[in-house]
Amino acid sequence: MDYYTFDKLEEIQQNEFIKAAIDRVGAGVVITDPEQEDNPMIYCNQGFKDLTGYESHEILGRNCRFLQGEETTPASVKKLKKGIEDQEVTYVEIKNYKKDGTPFWNELQIYPVYVEQMGQMYFVGVQKDVTKRREQEELIGHYLSEVKRLSTPIVPVEEGISVLPLVGTLDDDRLQQMLENVSHHVMESKDDYLIMDLSAVHSYNEGVHMGIYQMNQLLDLMGTTLVITGIKPSFAIESTPFADFTDLSLQTYASVKQALQSIRK
Ligand SMILES: Cc1cc2nc3c(=O)[nH]c(=O)nc-3n(C[C@H](O)[C@H](O)[C@H](O)COP(=O)(O)O)c2cc1C
Repeated sequence: MDYYTFDKLEEIQQNEFIKAAIDRVGAGVVITDPEQEDNPMIYCNQGFKDLTGYESHEILGRNCRFLQGEETTPASVKKLKKGIEDQEVTYVEIKNYKKDGTPFWNELQIYPVYVEQMGQMYFVGVQKDVTKRREQEELIGHYLSEVKRLSTPIVPVEEGISVLPLVGTLDDDRLQQMLENVSHHVMESKDDYLIMDLSAVHSYNEGVHMGIYQMNQLLDLMGTTLVITGIKPSFAIESTPFADFTDLSLQTYASVKQALQSIRK
């Protein structure tokens, strides 16, 4: 079977061929003419019509901004405006709306293209619906902040005493979260004692020693005594080079039960 090479195709066939190929691309493709008033669309592919739900006659001759709406962030519109003015390749993820009003996240790329035969510049825009990915990212972000919040539960056990039972791994992020949650809690509760129980912590990095040091200082300023329970021997050994807890005159006990008994005396 013979294949025509591209340059053998008649110009008109070439155009039809390219149009058909671009129509099959799984994304919106538009071309705008900046020489015309308000940079209107002069071409759109089938993908753009499928994505937005509009027909050609409702698209051509208009500026693409008609896809924007209530929740479109002005910052992304500003970025587009600047990119187009500066004739730079521009990328944004922008909230757009279909003809029936359904919002979608549009991953939009704009390329300035100089067409020599026409002696002028055009813009080519490629649009992709990334709503599913954005929704998943938002959901993951929500779960992560929930996990962070739950990772430092502060339990009031009796008048003036709360326990912070830590489980799992202690890393810098978690320590930071812990400092924020603890200061917030103590400010409201005005607890006399905060018992930080490390018995279920199975791994931690160097920062944990500094974190405890900072927490002790913070609580001291707020008039709350920090009590540490469940320190494993390995933790005690590792502590020495980073922070000498004996210098901090930290109260330490083997268990929460022992700490409570001692405080009550
Ligand atoms: C080729 C091209 C494609 C565009 N596609 C979109 C689009 O899909 N969605 C959108 O919100 N804006 C799109 N824009 C941006 C708007 O047309 C407009 O430039 C933007 O809103 C900033 O200008 P304005 O502040 O005058 O509205 C596109 C622009 C060009 C040049």
